Amino acid sequence: MLPNSASPQLAQLIEAARAAHKNAYGRYSGFSVGAAIRLRDGAIFAGCNVENASYGATICAERNAICAAIAAGGARQIEEIVVVSDGETPWPPCGMCRQFIAEFAAPDCVVHALGAGDQVRVWKFSALLPDSFGAADMDEAR
Ligand code: THU
Repeated sequence: MLPNSASPQLAQLIEAARAAHKNAYGRYSGFSVGAAIRLRDGAIFAGCNVENASYGATICAERNAICAAIAAGGARQIEEIVVVSDGETPWPPCGMCRQFIAEFAAPDCVVHALGAGDQVRVWKFSALLPDSFGAADMDEAR
């Protein structure tokens, strides 16, 4: 189905994720990841993985894209995400990124994952992190 039959809006998001994927700094793992997010107001932000010699300080593509969006002051509602990775089977967001996405995900947020081949994986974000912990839990407990 994707990416050839993608809507112009999704095609633009894929292009942004692919461009970020090219800029990835995967010096230690050898892997490149690019991510792009579209906010409720239509703005698109992208990020790539940025690894670190300490390994633990590495930041994933998804979190970098979200940090760029928040720093730019855009709508804090993510409607759609594209993640581009290297392998045949496209990578889903890691657990830490799922928690990070949960903070800003719109209720109907969708995640698309693309790899080196034709395979595309698509999830509703709510299926990737069901019963997620978030601001509402803390508000309720105050
Ligand atoms: N990586 C991401 O950028 N996003 C994910 O959701 C999974 C993993 C990066 C982190 C690290 O630089 C490399 O992929 C291997 O784990």
